[in-house]
Amino acid sequence: MALLLAYAIAFFGVPRVAAEQPADTGKIPPRAERTTAERTALALRLRQTYAGPPAAWPAPHVDPGIEWRELGLLPAVEHPPGNPYGTSKAALGRALFFDPRLSANGQMACATCHEPDRGWAENRAVSIAHGLVPARNTPTVRNAAFQRSFFWDGRAASLEDQAAEALANPHEMAATPEHVIDTIASNPRYREWYTEAFPGRPLEFAAVVEAIACFERTLVGGRSRFDALLRGDAAALTDAEVLGLDIFRREGRCLTCHHGPTLSDGRFHDLGLSFHGRSNEDLGRFCVTHDAADKGRFRTPSLRDVTNTAPYMHTGMFQLRGVLNMYNAGMATLKRQPFERDDPTFPVKSPLLKPLGLNRQDLADLEAFLGTLAEPATPGPQPQLPPGLE
Ligand code: HEC
Ligand code: HEC
Repeated sequence: MALLLAYAIAFFGVPRVAAEQPADTGKIPPRAERTTAERTALALRLRQTYAGPPAAWPAPHVDPGIEWRELGLLPAVEHPPGNPYGTSKAALGRALFFDPRLSANGQMACATCHEPDRGWAENRAVSIAHGLVPARNTPTVRNAAFQRSFFWDGRAASLEDQAAEALANPHEMAATPEHVIDTIASNPRYREWYTEAFPGRPLEFAAVVEAIACFERTLVGGRSRFDALLRGDAAALTDAEVLGLDIFRREGRCLTCHHGPTLSDGRFHDLGLSFHGRSNEDLGRFCVTHDAADKGRFRTPSLRDVTNTAPYMHTGMFQLRGVLNMYNAGMATLKRQPFERDDPTFPVKSPLLKPLGLNRQDLADLEAFLGTLAEPATPGPQPQLPPGLE
């Protein structure tokens, strides 16, 4: 446990706990808009502040008792001791990630849904499922190296477990370990690459998922304009963007859950999107823990590169402005249907969500700030796949 904690701290910095703050009061009207002169003056001051050390930043609005970490640059990736980095291993993993021959129907690669030029995600609302409901929106695999759990409900504990499930999952590749092994065994080039990546190791499924996971850990961001600001480049953000950053940390209360270098607390929250009792019900974390308190909770996603991974939320039902409008209203509260009236396990929306009273200017600034988290387009061609099977 102590080791785990030390590991987490090395990764994400020392956690802090928010001090007592005055209680919030229900619904609030949008606050007054600012004049252009006021905006310019405030942006000038904030830009100097945020280009400086985080210790000098204004305190964020975080509820009492919530453990939070300041926004910051991504740390270096730590490859796990059981699957150390290797150049040939990552190269093999990269080819496999892009190779549709691993799937049951020979037509679907990891990259079919996690597309490099769509922020390693997909622009359809939910991924094409083979008759299984409900389907979920495809998350990005960029920066997955920094996550503690995988999938919207956190059911995989490592990228290796995740890749094994993605290959076998009827929602995804629908393959069997035997099919995957046969695909590699029957291709001389893949056999050669495998031997380079895993000298002396017999051809096995566990190694294949290690190669894919190793490749995924190389997909890291950190080249956004927000990163440039964090490195001290005060000119990296426009007035609207820097005002949006301040709203994100304070009046918008976003930092409560979206904090640290990845802008995610890695925890599970109910934002009122479980559709409990409806045909499209998805109980999220509850599907893993079977604890009623987890009904409707989903893992806070990272917001890095978020403007390249529309649409949003596990349902993929929203565009960015829609998401921001919902947060401003404190998110919708799911209504109980008659048969749910006395259900003690009915999902409860997170008490951390409160009406914000942001005006249209604020929402536009917040959206502008989220745009500064965009990564530059990934250059480079897709990998050369070994030619057809012999
Ligand atoms: C048919 C589309 C599809 C294919 C193919 C696919 N994925 Fe996914 N991937 C998804 C969806 C949808 C989710 C979220 C599912 C959930 O949360 O239950 C996901 C989740 C993930 C995650 C977790 C991300 C996070 O933030 O937790 C990783 C990592 C990942 N996939 C890697 C892979 C790999 C590796 C492959 C190939 C072996 C693959 N995926 C193939 C659609 C796909
Ligand atoms: C109570 C914790 C919490 C707070 C506060 C919070 N978020 Fe979230 N956020 C989440 C969770 C959890 C999800 C995923 C919910 C789901 O899919 O059901 C999410 C999803 C998102 C998404 C969609 C990302 C994607 O890839 O689909 C965006 C954008 C977002 N939040 C921005 C914000 C902004 C901006 C604020 C402040 C106005 C904010 N969040 C406040 C927990 C929170």
